[in-house]
Amino acid sequence: MTNIAVIYYSSTGNIAKLAHAIAEGAHEAGATTRVHSVAETAPAAAIDANPRWRGFVDTNTDDPATLEDLTWADAIALGSPTRFGGPAAQLKSFLDTTGGLWAQGLLADKVCTAFTSASTGHGGLESTILAINNHCYHWGSLIMPLGYRDTHVRKVTGNPYGASFVSRQGAAPDDDALLAARAQGRQLAAVTSDLRRGRQEGQT
Ligand SMILES: Cc1cc2nc3c(=O)[nH]c(=O)nc-3n(C[C@H](O)[C@H](O)[C@H](O)COP(=O)(O)O)c2cc1C
Repeated sequence: MTNIAVIYYSSTGNIAKLAHAIAEGAHEAGATTRVHSVAETAPAAAIDANPRWRGFVDTNTDDPATLEDLTWADAIALGSPTRFGGPAAQLKSFLDTTGGLWAQGLLADKVCTAFTSASTGHGGLESTILAINNHCYHWGSLIMPLGYRDTHVRKVTGNPYGASFVSRQGAAPDDDALLAARAQGRQLAAVTSDLRRGRQEGQT
């Protein structure tokens, strides 16, 4: 089985929905999946100021990611809302705890992919995905863009960097965004499974 970890930060729940859609797609393609959020570190006053943020914090049931989730995984999907054109500090804080794994080479050669949501179409979707991918370059991972292989992505959502949803100040991910996320999950599982098979055949 191919193991896929979907690890995300979300404040108002949009990225959480995309994360689960990615896991569904990977599962459809035969992978074993884990979905984990990362620790919320924002002050309570900031969370309380936004009812959707407070609501998500109080109802999210995804356990926090651990380093073991990364070593378990053959492939990792990383998601964050766009925050001033880049990923949220909460995701980066988790990724910044991976120095020990990096030093041992334990993240090298895993397949990584990224996804995001921003309020506006030109508000930094691509720059956020590229910034998340920077961690994967340093890990020595193989970065899988969403590309245009999927017809729905090519014709409707149109972002080859990774699944992304334009939330327009508060909307939840629509069916188009969720379809793109599922396609990314399926593709991640298929690519990783092919890679694993090729490596196993190369060893025999
Ligand atoms: C502090 C902060 C910074 C943000 N920066 C951007 C931004 O640079 N561009 C943008 O389009 N949206 C920005 N947004 C909006 C979020 O990216 C958007 O609402 C996203 O859908 C939230 O995802 P979530 O529900 O998973 O938290 C920002 C939101 C916050 C709270």
